[in-house]
Amino acid sequence: MSQPPKRELKEYVAIGHTEAENHFRTQQSQAQQPSISSDTTRTLTEFLWFNVFGFAYHYLKSRFGKRHPYQSYPQGDDNGIFQMEGKNGVTQLALLSDWASDTPESDAVGAVVASHSPDYSIHLGDIYFVGTPSEVAANFTSPKASWPRGKWGSLALSGNHEMYSNGDAFFKYLLPTMGVREGDSVRIQKAGFFCLENDHWRVIGLDTGYTSVERPFLEVLSPPDCHLRKEQVSWLREQVQLGNPADQRGIVFLSHHPPFSSFRKSFPEPAKQLSQLLGDAVRPVIWIWGHEHRMVVYHPKQLTNLTINGRCIGHGGMPAEIDLPKNNKEAIAFYDQRKRTTLRRIDVGFNGFAWLTFDQQHLSIEYRDINDALVYRELVRVEEGKLEFLPIT
Ligand SMILES: [Fe+2]
Repeated sequence: MSQPPKRELKEYVAIGHTEAENHFRTQQSQAQQPSISSDTTRTLTEFLWFNVFGFAYHYLKSRFGKRHPYQSYPQGDDNGIFQMEGKNGVTQLALLSDWASDTPESDAVGAVVASHSPDYSIHLGDIYFVGTPSEVAANFTSPKASWPRGKWGSLALSGNHEMYSNGDAFFKYLLPTMGVREGDSVRIQKAGFFCLENDHWRVIGLDTGYTSVERPFLEVLSPPDCHLRKEQVSWLREQVQLGNPADQRGIVFLSHHPPFSSFRKSFPEPAKQLSQLLGDAVRPVIWIWGHEHRMVVYHPKQLTNLTINGRCIGHGGMPAEIDLPKNNKEAIAFYDQRKRTTLRRIDVGFNGFAWLTFDQQHLSIEYRDINDALVYRELVRVEEGKLEFLPIT
């Protein structure tokens, strides 16, 4: 059976941020794929269906259909808190965001990550164009999909694009394939958030995707703010015990949406909620997000009592943006603005990923590109809840 061709990166140049446009592009892209049947009448029917009825069906379903019910963890052992494993006490974790474009570039990034054999791999969200079942399959679950699974498991966050199709495929088809191996069994990721931890570090994946899309009309009156739903807040308070002052482990937050940005709209509400959960003391955290298709390291930023060491790694599989910041340039410590190529007369940068190595109190973060070149590196040490960024030799 022949496989449909990969999408080309140029399909994503100047992509719109509206649901309608993304639905359209999904249907357009499917329509361009050759039929696996030799029945030409059927091919023609499919073509018409995808372009007209298919587009209308998905668009209306997404705009007026119901969001997939929110999922959270049951009480007890199956609580979404996974123990980090590794070799000789060292754990290697790959982070990819905005990666699922099913292009030669996303394949190449996936292959580089796979060549390093991560213990875990995590997708920080956005499956293009609108997170349909076929797009989940093409990127993650079909035999030819290039998602680089970790030796101990993979986990996933939802972005806004998964929610453009109401999150159905994310919850129904992607999450059941995500989880962590524990001994001979696998614990499945049952909600859009999770915690992966060891004695020194906690990697906490936050779901900002579910609340990033609202109903038509309501969206105008009350724009989505990506807040953490009450189920997630309860989980953070009661299961993760984020406010426990005795827990001085280093915290790495992951989310799809940025709590601040020098380029586009940001979503500070989750940071406010986390700050309340963490209590009064100033708490330094590393926070890695995607959504914007670029690679940026920010200087520490104070948001209420959180000191956020923010990093944007949304350059996983979409055309990487290298344009100038719109505001607050001085907040940026590093920005990968190297030009890789030109697509439809637009300069695009290098795709890539983040590679985290946890070794006792130390955490090394390497930002690598599609050619596996090291673009930026940082080394952090945690001591009684404080983070010290060490000089790189
Ligand atoms: Fe996004």
